[in-house]
Amino acid sequence: MSALNFSVTLYVVIISISFVFGEKTVVCNYETKSHIREGQGKFDISALEPALQYCTHLIYGYAAIKDDTLKLVPLNEQFDVIKDNYRHVTDLKRKYPKLKVLLSVGGNEDVNGEDGEKNLKYREVLETSTRRLAFVNSAHTLIKGFGFDGIDLAWEFPETKPKKIKSGLGAFWSGLKHKIAGESVIDENAEQHREQFTSLVKELKSAFRPDNLLVTLTVLPNVNSTVYYDPRALAPYLDLIVLHAFDFYTPERNKKLADFPSPLYELIDRRNDENVDAWVKYWINNGAPANKLVLGIPTYGRTWKLDSDTSSVDSLPLTELEGPGDPGPLTKEAGLLSYAEICTKVEHQQGVKGGSTPTQFKRVPDSTKRRGPYAYRLPDENEEGGIWIAYEDPESAATKGAYVKNKGLAGIAVDDLTLDDFKGICGHNKYAILKAAVSAL
Ligand SMILES: *[C@@H]1O[C@H](CO)[C@@H](O)[C@H](O)[C@H]1NC(C)=O
Repeated sequence: MSALNFSVTLYVVIISISFVFGEKTVVCNYETKSHIREGQGKFDISALEPALQYCTHLIYGYAAIKDDTLKLVPLNEQFDVIKDNYRHVTDLKRKYPKLKVLLSVGGNEDVNGEDGEKNLKYREVLETSTRRLAFVNSAHTLIKGFGFDGIDLAWEFPETKPKKIKSGLGAFWSGLKHKIAGESVIDENAEQHREQFTSLVKELKSAFRPDNLLVTLTVLPNVNSTVYYDPRALAPYLDLIVLHAFDFYTPERNKKLADFPSPLYELIDRRNDENVDAWVKYWINNGAPANKLVLGIPTYGRTWKLDSDTSSVDSLPLTELEGPGDPGPLTKEAGLLSYAEICTKVEHQQGVKGGSTPTQFKRVPDSTKRRGPYAYRLPDENEEGGIWIAYEDPESAATKGAYVKNKGLAGIAVDDLTLDDFKGICGHNKYAILKAAVSAL
């Protein structure tokens, strides 16, 4: 071999090695409930394509656990199976051969029954080895049968109780109750459930391994990892651990109290475990390898109604609010706006001249890079239209991407594609949040 040839070969080897090691995981969540939206918000499978060149994993959300048999089943038989959406999605791998497509179970979409009891089956299925086996076998059949590359467990463990602002007598009684009973207990068998969950993951992985199928975990918002997950025991059996470290404050959990839904770092006067960094530290300090951790980034904002009593919208948390903001034109869900809805409301109005200010939004970017941006519009003279929005924008998504890079984490997960600006109505760019986060990796 000539010297030139040798050095060219060496060069190529070095380039391909750094390419492999430099490659970050980009998990793209696809919420299929988006197909019922109408007009500009409607999300067809073809809308996925401009995102897929950036994604290493596509997570199909969501499958369900069947009430009586506790087996893994499609959540929406009509759409997923009869209309063949499972197949249409796994067929995308022909065009994107490196893409891994996973089916996710739970995700707070597998809801039935009353509040509190709704997630009971996610604990019941863990409780005996017979039930776990039936679940594992049903999962293996479903995943393999439709050509998925693995399962994601967006496990619906009970959520922590939202913080309440109490005053006067209420505070007195609740203080007393805590002294007697300790923190209110949401799951008396939490310790067993934690161990049984580890067993489930081990059993799943050994059933899936012969077919090279993946098993990943998504830690849902407000599920307390210290209660339910044992990082050291779980990590060897999981391919990725996706942390949905957001929605600490939502208008559903905290009707009257607004705060940043997804701060990167601890904020003054707040709980020290309700931020991204605390979640990442918990997993790393307890034995999860950084290169399996994936940081979830929301593509939406949370909204609360403001009335004229709200004196200062800039000193957070805001209290005594009027509940969730009105549904957006595309997503039609109270208290939630997609990034596309936010940018058309907030960012495009920047610099609009004339008119009385109350119809306009004020946007407050995050100069601290710790908390994320927010925007608001004060109510008009008829007390209408007041709204406060905390959200993720391309800049804050990039800050989180940079955090992932600095900490040597595996990558990012966008939750989800259908709420990002998939049409490019904010600017010229489709998927602004996804792209901003990816380019910071
Ligand atoms: C999570 O659980 C730990 C230990 O059980 C507790 O100290 C902490 O306050 C909990 N966090 C939340 C947000 O409830």
